[in-house]
Amino acid sequence: MADRLTRRGLLAGGGALAATAFTPAAAARTPAPKVEAFHGTHQAGVATPPQTHAVFLGLDLRKGTGRDDVVRLMRLLSDDAVRLTQGRGALADSEPELAATPARLTFTFGFGPGLFEAAGLKGHEQLPAFGVDRLQDRWSGGDLLVQLCCDDQVTLAHALRMTVKDTRSFATVRWTQRGFRQPEGTVQRNLMGQIDGTVNPADLDRAVWIQDGPLKGGTMLVLRRIEILMDTWDAVDRVAREFTVGRRLSDGAPLTGPGEPDFAKLNPIGFPVIAEYAHIRRAHVADPGLRMLRRVYNYDEGLLFAAYVADVERQFTAVQRRLAKADLLNEWTRPIGSAVFAIPPGCAEGGWIGESLLT
Ligand code: HEM
Repeated sequence: MADRLTRRGLLAGGGALAATAFTPAAAARTPAPKVEAFHGTHQAGVATPPQTHAVFLGLDLRKGTGRDDVVRLMRLLSDDAVRLTQGRGALADSEPELAATPARLTFTFGFGPGLFEAAGLKGHEQLPAFGVDRLQDRWSGGDLLVQLCCDDQVTLAHALRMTVKDTRSFATVRWTQRGFRQPEGTVQRNLMGQIDGTVNPADLDRAVWIQDGPLKGGTMLVLRRIEILMDTWDAVDRVAREFTVGRRLSDGAPLTGPGEPDFAKLNPIGFPVIAEYAHIRRAHVADPGLRMLRRVYNYDEGLLFAAYVADVERQFTAVQRRLAKADLLNEWTRPIGSAVFAIPPGCAEGGWIGESLLT
């Protein structure tokens, strides 16, 4: 996928630009617009190769909002999403030009427990408290999530403003969390310098997409805002840094050598090469069908940890419990925000997100 995108980028963008005199008009004409489909079985923004920028917008429904209002809101937001992701202005958009470069913009909507309650729905999964949590209200919870991802920050800012504008009579902004990562197709490093986000499930139908019930074709998102204590991390030398995670900093290979980590391997004096409490040993899930899809973004002081799973308890909570009990990384990381959202399935043309749940 990365390869395809890179090649397409070179042919459609770079190559064309190189052959054309660079004038603003030529620039506006030449690059093929990079568009992610909005309609489909699943919402975009989950399996989509991660865009460079993201905004997670957490909204609280206004008091007295009921199911009919939620339906109206989701119809409106789905319409905005169709237009903006395809490079057209939203309805009554006063700056439609800012939508003209979609840059792989995706909208992903998620329903929190408060929305379930307002709409009379049942069965929202939530997290227990973990010993490592230092959660702040200002980064936690939320009734409705709009996850916006895009390769262009101006397009993203415009899509965010249109979204907030159209939700105004139904909801208030609870939090806005912005994240960034390196361009798709390059090695992804977090701000601790580690190559991050490499071990993910191959079979999304087993691990990510819910297979039955009203959320069929949807998934669950666990969003954790994790502060990284960079000042004390600065005092740690390279050997200890690698020991903490169990992988090399240079290329991300396990300390036991390239390929899969060998958790049984001992060093000459009989200790495991990948330490008992190294992050990858504690987080490792052997069954690929039970792995979480991590699609993480950096923020200046930490990591926006976004994991998509079909089953929160079995795939996220079980791992987080283990990590909370013992993980060398805990010394330098501190979860300060937490939220869980049900991500409804995608919709067909003419449909809207949430249809299968709300009608
Ligand atoms: C700031 C916090 C965190 C940092 C810096 C971090 C960093 C890393 C790094 C560098 C890797 C190895 C490369 C890779 O497989 O992506 C990794 C693996 C992993 N992490 Fe984290 N992580 C953090 C938090 C978490 C949390 C909260 C969870 C889940 C509750 C988690 C679950 C995992 C899993 C499942 C793996 C793959 C393990 C395997 O099977 O090899 N991580 N993490």
